[in-house]
Amino acid sequence: MTTVDPHGSKEDLLFALYPFGQMIEKSGVVAFPTETVYGLGASALDPAGIEKIFAAKGRPSDNPLIVHITRMEEVFELVQSVPEKAIKLMEAFWPGPLTMIFKKRDIIPHIVTAGGDTVALRMPDHPVAKALIEISGVPLVAPSANASGKPSPTRAEHVWEDLEGKIHGIIDGGSCAVGIESTVIDMTVEPPMLLRPGGITQKMIREVIGPIRRDQHLDVIDRGQSSKASGDFPGKVRSPGMKYTHYAPKAKVLILRGKRKNVLNRVKELEKSYRESGEKVGIITVDENLEYYEGVYGKSSAAKTKPVDTEKNSESGTTVSREKGFPEGPCIRTLGSEKRVEKMAANLFAILRDFDQTDVGIILAEALEDREIGYAIMNRLSKAAGQNILYVDEEDRS
Ligand code: TXA
Ligand code: MG
Repeated sequence: MTTVDPHGSKEDLLFALYPFGQMIEKSGVVAFPTETVYGLGASALDPAGIEKIFAAKGRPSDNPLIVHITRMEEVFELVQSVPEKAIKLMEAFWPGPLTMIFKKRDIIPHIVTAGGDTVALRMPDHPVAKALIEISGVPLVAPSANASGKPSPTRAEHVWEDLEGKIHGIIDGGSCAVGIESTVIDMTVEPPMLLRPGGITQKMIREVIGPIRRDQHLDVIDRGQSSKASGDFPGKVRSPGMKYTHYAPKAKVLILRGKRKNVLNRVKELEKSYRESGEKVGIITVDENLEYYEGVYGKSSAAKTKPVDTEKNSESGTTVSREKGFPEGPCIRTLGSEKRVEKMAANLFAILRDFDQTDVGIILAEALEDREIGYAIMNRLSKAAGQNILYVDEEDRS
């Protein structure tokens, strides 16, 4: 693991990253930070390196990879045609957390696209990612640098946990600011179709190019209409990544949706019954609800709870310490304040991973509002929960 200063001069960065460029040239795979999550990079033109990515992650070979570039001109070298709307989106959001799908040119190997005739392109907005692409002299494929199925890595330690010994290098450039993966939109259809919500919201996209569609499978996932995260989705799954269980911590996850008051009450009841049956409970909440838990589990508990700081490490005190009356009380983590949804996104994956360090067996997660980045966060949480969602208002009526 090599630490680099993302804020250093470009010359310093290129110098520090030179050995990693060499690894990539020799078909090696290297983990590096982007503004979204850490990526696992190899040359997009080199099937030998790309095979190692699939092997290291344990990634199914039918799940295509995103190609990362640093110059607009590269788009025209890699894809057959670039619709007007795509140009507008590039101008508005590149470099940044937006991935666009185009018809590929022959130069892109089939292993990148899982045999398909489209390719996903993204221009990341992170000095280390940009410098690595530049020093490598080729576009880089980079899936998230986690073991397949685990939460995406937002810190170099997360990559280490999952892939140490399986890859050639890890570049530590600090925590990822966005914290969830890029938005993926298919530009080969009209109107363009959202395949994965992310840092660039649907509203932001609509403001630039007008109406877009949402892939039907997104709604299946997000509304918990499917009982399974993997396997038997109805119809064709457009973004193959959507059909696999993702982001799953070791503990089971249950999302509670409904009015705030009902959700909080139900969390309390469930916590009690799980505790009584010997199961340790984790709770994912927001700053605004801490006072409630403070009332239930004691003042000192909530007082010691801090939102996870993206700059800080998982060791920092994000666990509620329990008051005497609740020696077996829940392990409460807050995503942050509802007033700063972007920050919540940046905390999500680290919190899911942190639960793996505890003896929590079930995590009760309060649903966030499905707006803007909240929608992208809920998309990840729903997958982590394997669509395990409880609608508490409907329960009340019955
Ligand atoms: O933010 C990100 O996009 C991160 C960083 C490292 O750049 N990368 C990332 O890659 O999240 P990955 O492989 O974990 O997710 C890529 C997603 C998958 O859901 C995949 O199925 C979809 O993009 N995808 C890639 N190429 C596609 C294509 N040609 N058509 C449809 N979906 C595609
Ligand atoms: Mg991924």
